Amino acid sequence: MPTQRTSIHGQWSSRLAFIFAATGSAVGLGNIWKFPYMTGENGGGAFVLVYLVCVAMIGVPIMMSEVMLGRRGRQSPINTMRTLAEEEGYSRLWGLLGWMGVLAGFLILSYYSVIAGWALAYVFRTAGGVFNGATAEGVDAVFTELISDPERLLAWHTIFMAAGLELAVRLLMPALFVLLILLVGYAMSQGHFLEGVRFLFEPDFSKLSGQAVLMAMGQAFFSLSLGMGAIMIYGSYLPREASIARTSITVAVSDTLVAVIAGLAIFPIVFAHGLPPTQGPGLIFKTLPIAFGHMPGGALFGSLFFVLLVFAAWTSAISLIEPAVAWLVENHGFTRVHATVSAGAVIWTIGLGTIFSFSTWSGPEYTLFGKTFFDLVDFLTANIMLPLGGLLIAVFAAWLMSERSASDELAMGDGPGYRIWYFLVRYVTPVGVVFVFLNVIGLL
Ligand code: PFF
Repeated sequence: MPTQRTSIHGQWSSRLAFIFAATGSAVGLGNIWKFPYMTGENGGGAFVLVYLVCVAMIGVPIMMSEVMLGRRGRQSPINTMRTLAEEEGYSRLWGLLGWMGVLAGFLILSYYSVIAGWALAYVFRTAGGVFNGATAEGVDAVFTELISDPERLLAWHTIFMAAGLELAVRLLMPALFVLLILLVGYAMSQGHFLEGVRFLFEPDFSKLSGQAVLMAMGQAFFSLSLGMGAIMIYGSYLPREASIARTSITVAVSDTLVAVIAGLAIFPIVFAHGLPPTQGPGLIFKTLPIAFGHMPGGALFGSLFFVLLVFAAWTSAISLIEPAVAWLVENHGFTRVHATVSAGAVIWTIGLGTIFSFSTWSGPEYTLFGKTFFDLVDFLTANIMLPLGGLLIAVFAAWLMSERSASDELAMGDGPGYRIWYFLVRYVTPVGVVFVFLNVIGLL
């Protein structure tokens, strides 16, 4: 029977190993770099509320579905979707969902690596004491100088792409968490903490445009690594006896906690220094160094923080490339190393577009609909491709797949947990995603 399939790539040693790997994928730049600036650009509390609702009502059930499909198929997302579709009597064209995921992963990683390169560059700047006693203007100047120098960005982007190691996630993640808490402590001691809390948690719905709702939903997919097969491929290595529901909830809660804590560390500094919360992708690079520049031991903590951020990005990067790697190994007999290097080279090349977006190509002659190359790739992936992938996963898992296959793999019996999952994936996700899409293109 299909449920007895095994993966040719091996299996996680335990449920805990999966939790660490999936959390490693979920927690990354999305939580610490992207969540704060998106929140800042979209008005704060109301955006955060929509984000949290999306995580709970769409994110967790989609995560369960991805793990479930992955574990049942036990192959790369492309082959898993083909096999499962055939098994359930549908077209092999469902493999295209896997392909869209591979494409989304490549596009995301192409800019992800550039931003991770910024963090890497900041390790050395912070360690070297560049920010000691720095003012907001001084920090701003350092950031602007970095991003307007494509050659330097190229070097950092290259170093990040070339170094694809998997290091001790189990130690590094908790360490990052501790440092974030330390930063919150600093933020608290600086006065404007409550203002930050209010910005994050007091919803002002007048600031919530349809576009902001799309962004919040996209951010939920992005932050939880959903909609492109990353969690599906990790699920394909999950031992049969592990509970998919508990595992998914654990990962989603940890991921959300890290994002919220990052917000709590950053916004008080933003307000204490009168900085605009709307400044976009540079936000953490212009705020955190101020904190590191003024706290005792700041050079040490600061460089450590950026090291850990780079590692968090690494563990996410690995999952972004894994669906493609697994496919190259399965269908073309590549070794893992060969597959990773080949995919990495393509991604590195696409990343050049992002590097130039911040300097040479930032002018209006290089933008489309007012968006730079980086803005376009980010919008297309996080706000279109991931939710669309999630929608298709939901349709497959709750409408096409026989209920018996799904409930057999989820192994929750017919209890309330299963019923809630089924309801959310069958109705809430598809309706939610379609509604938000239609709203943004102006049809609703
Ligand atoms: N979840 C990662 C983050 O928040 O940084 C980014 C990411 C990883 C997105 C894997 C999508 C993905 F499939």
